[in-house]
Amino acid sequence: MTSFRRIYLITTLSILSLLTSVDPALAEQHELDEFTIQSRKYAADFMASLKRMRRIDVETVGVSSTLETCGHHSPQLYYEFSVKNNIVLRRVSLAPRNPVLGSADAWEQAGLLKMQKMLKDGVKPDEMEIVELVQEPANQYFRYLQPIIAEPGCLKCHGSEKDMAMEASDALKLFYPKDRANGYKDNDLVGAISIKRAKGVAAPRHHAAPPQH
Ligand code: HEC
Repeated sequence: MTSFRRIYLITTLSILSLLTSVDPALAEQHELDEFTIQSRKYAADFMASLKRMRRIDVETVGVSSTLETCGHHSPQLYYEFSVKNNIVLRRVSLAPRNPVLGSADAWEQAGLLKMQKMLKDGVKPDEMEIVELVQEPANQYFRYLQPIIAEPGCLKCHGSEKDMAMEASDALKLFYPKDRANGYKDNDLVGAISIKRAKGVAAPRHHAAPPQH
C-alpha cells in the first residue's frame, strides 16, 4: 500500500468513527428538544382543558359535588392526553390529595424539591421547567416537569380552613380521607405536571379533524 493510500484510509476511518460518535448525541439532543417543545404544548392544553371542565362543574353543580367528580374527571383527562400523544401525563405532588395518581416518584420528588427551593430563591415559575433523559432498568425515558402554582381560585379546595369554601371541608373529609393537599396560599407550589415518553417513541401524527356537518 502506498503511503498516500494509507493516509487516505486512516482519514476515512477516523471521519467515520467521528461521525458515529457525534451523530447519536446530536440525534438525542434533537429528540430531547422536540420532546420539550411538545411537552410545553401538552401541559398548556391539559391545564386549559382541566380548568374549563372544573369551572363548568363548579358553576353548575357547586364545589362540593365538583370535589366528587374531580376524582373521575382528571384521571380521564390524564388517560386521554396520554393515549393520544404516546406519553404518560399526570399531575403529581409531594403531599397529594389523590395518593394513587398524585404521588410523585423518585425523579419527580427530586424535581419538586428543587422547584420548591427555586421558588424560595425568587426564580419565576415559568423559568422552572426540568427536562432530562433518564435511564431506568428497562428503558431510557424523556422526562418533563412543569410547576403548578396556586392561584386564588384554587384555595376554595386547597387553601387553609378560612379560605376553603364552606362545603369543601366536609366533602374533602368524605371523598379524600387521606388528603394532604390543603393549607396552600396564593403563589405556593402545589405540584407539577409530569410527562414521560420512552426514548425512540415518536409523537403520533395527528390529522386535521374532518369538517363537521
Ligand atoms: C373544586 C375543587 C378544586 C379546585 C378549585 C382545585 N382543585 Fe386541585 N384537586 C382537587 C381534587 C378533588 C383533587 C384530587 C383528584 C384529582 O386528581 O383531580 C385535586 C388534585 C390536584 C393536584 C394533583 C395532585 C394531588 O394532590 O392529588 C394538583 C397538583 C392540584 N389539584 C392543584 C390545583 C391547583 C393549582 C388549582 C387551581 C388552579 C386547583 N387544584 C383547583 C380539587 C380542586
